[in-house]
Amino acid sequence: MATSTPDQALRVAPSILSADFGTLAEAVDLVTPATDWLHVDVMDGHFVPNLSLGPPVVSSLRKHTDLFFDTHLMLTDPARYLEPFRNAGADGCTVHVEVGHTAELIAQMRDLGLRVGLAANPDTPFEAVAPFLDQIDLLVCMTVFPGFGGQSFIADVLPKVVEVRRAATEAGLSLDVEVDGGIDADTVVEAAHAGANVFVAGSAVFGRSHPLAAAEEILRAAVDSLAGDPS
Ligand code: DX5
Ligand code: ZN
Repeated sequence: MATSTPDQALRVAPSILSADFGTLAEAVDLVTPATDWLHVDVMDGHFVPNLSLGPPVVSSLRKHTDLFFDTHLMLTDPARYLEPFRNAGADGCTVHVEVGHTAELIAQMRDLGLRVGLAANPDTPFEAVAPFLDQIDLLVCMTVFPGFGGQSFIADVLPKVVEVRRAATEAGLSLDVEVDGGIDADTVVEAAHAGANVFVAGSAVFGRSHPLAAAEEILRAAVDSLAGDPS
């Protein structure tokens, strides 16, 4: 489960991208004791050079679990798919700032009753997301270039995480700051210190022989690293 802090709850969000799609329901059950969020990676073969899954998979999983579906839309045209994903059971959707139309997409997500997320690629500057921080619930700092699981964590993104958290705190916003890509029990420490509170992990959870223990270890590493740290 999430670990409460004075600010935003610390949680690990296992990414099903690295799970066995033939036994997804079992994979979800395996990690459920460690979290209340599941990260669902949706790829269109255009915004990113890969394909993953669509609303039917979300709908099938929705019947199986009450976990919060943190639905990461790596799509060139998310406007077209927000309602189908909401109807399939997505709780929150995240669109990429790089696709543009951000204000309209945020409004559409709110109208649909979705929790609102905005993602920025590693080379997208803080300034691109800054105008929207007071309109969203979740800011996702990609710590790999999206498209594939199992890539190496890009530490150069951490100063942006610091900027996002600082701006949110100064504005009194209760913003979830998520890091996505290359997170494991080592890299999560730097990400947590930078101010992230949601840690997506795919290969470091489902690529391990004991996914539940791996997810718990990642969360514990984040919690322990912040214990007694006033910063
Ligand atoms: C990348 C996805 C990530 C990724 C996480 O396009 O958005 O969620 O699959 O996988 P790992 O933890 O293996 O980097
Ligand atoms: Zn993702």
